[in-house]
Amino acid sequence: MKNSPNQIVITKPDDWHLHIRDGEIMKAVLPASYRWARRAIIMPNLLSPVVTCEDARSYLSRIKACIEKTVDFEPMLTLYLTEETKAEDLVLGFREKIIKAVKLYPAGATTNSHNGVKNITKIYPILAAMSEEGIPLLIHGEVTDPYVDVFDREAVFIDKILVPMRVEYPELNIVMEHITTKQSVDYILGENSNLAATITPHHLILNRNVIFEGGIRPHYYCLPVLKREIHRQALVDVVTKGHKKFFLGTDSAPHIDDAKIDKCGCAGIFNSPFTMEILAQFFDNHNALENLENFTSLNGAEFYKLPYNKEKLSLIKSDEMIHMPEVLETKKGPITIFNPNMQIFWQIEN
Ligand code: NCD
Ligand code: ZN
Repeated sequence: MKNSPNQIVITKPDDWHLHIRDGEIMKAVLPASYRWARRAIIMPNLLSPVVTCEDARSYLSRIKACIEKTVDFEPMLTLYLTEETKAEDLVLGFREKIIKAVKLYPAGATTNSHNGVKNITKIYPILAAMSEEGIPLLIHGEVTDPYVDVFDREAVFIDKILVPMRVEYPELNIVMEHITTKQSVDYILGENSNLAATITPHHLILNRNVIFEGGIRPHYYCLPVLKREIHRQALVDVVTKGHKKFFLGTDSAPHIDDAKIDKCGCAGIFNSPFTMEILAQFFDNHNALENLENFTSLNGAEFYKLPYNKEKLSLIKSDEMIHMPEVLETKKGPITIFNPNMQIFWQIEN
């Protein structure tokens, strides 16, 4: 890493949690990621989810067809765990390097999760096989019990689901995806190196007030929902210190505006177009630019036991605020781009 007040050169980042969808939307959103990321863990929650290795193989070829040969970008696929998943299928997919990890969605927890897991003990035999094989489990860690408050669902998940699971499978490598609470941070800090977490730019920068500022703001609605300031502070603390167990997963989740602004609007924030500009500004505002690279480029690779990227990314700070467009136009309609509600002076140097 090279550091001067107005320039920073870091190892090229990776995105450890990304939704790119399929078809026209995928074509439109992919360039926003490979502009700054060299690898990305691709989420499997398509309308028809990626549940078998055959599905993953086919999705991978559709993704690759959207990326020009000259672009150096590696999509790393995940399988969507269901109560019907076959251990042999996912082990084979992992050995053949079709998939990198497996994603657990509690049924009903988020977008396209109705095929997810209802009874966690039903998938314990799968977890045993994954633990044996060293396949990471990526978790959307929220309970779906309608009697548990939506703001408490992550903390309750730790107590009710994650702690017993880790007692049963202590060797299993787990990433708690897009953590949002102090409880998650504290729990992860107290556990061994098998357990890590991704954190999104929006959960680092905003608290839940922004959803209700002057009216209801659907473009700030995502799952897990933004939390109280005290929780945001806990995330900021570990990330700006460069703590090894926390790394970038943008959870960039594009939905066309018509689907967000609806009587039942979709959850998801589309932040991939300016992830690095926003994060550089955020780390700069916290006088922590020296730890940007740990968060975006090093910690995740270490957890996944992958080499660091050889390529570099250079960011420069200008005197004038940069202008970020509000939407990305696609053949399916416009998608509103994440507005971090702060002034940005950093940009990627071409
Ligand atoms: C994601 C999506 O739209 O696929 N939405 C979101 O709010 N983050 C799903 C998810 O990661 O929960
Ligand atoms: Zn997600």
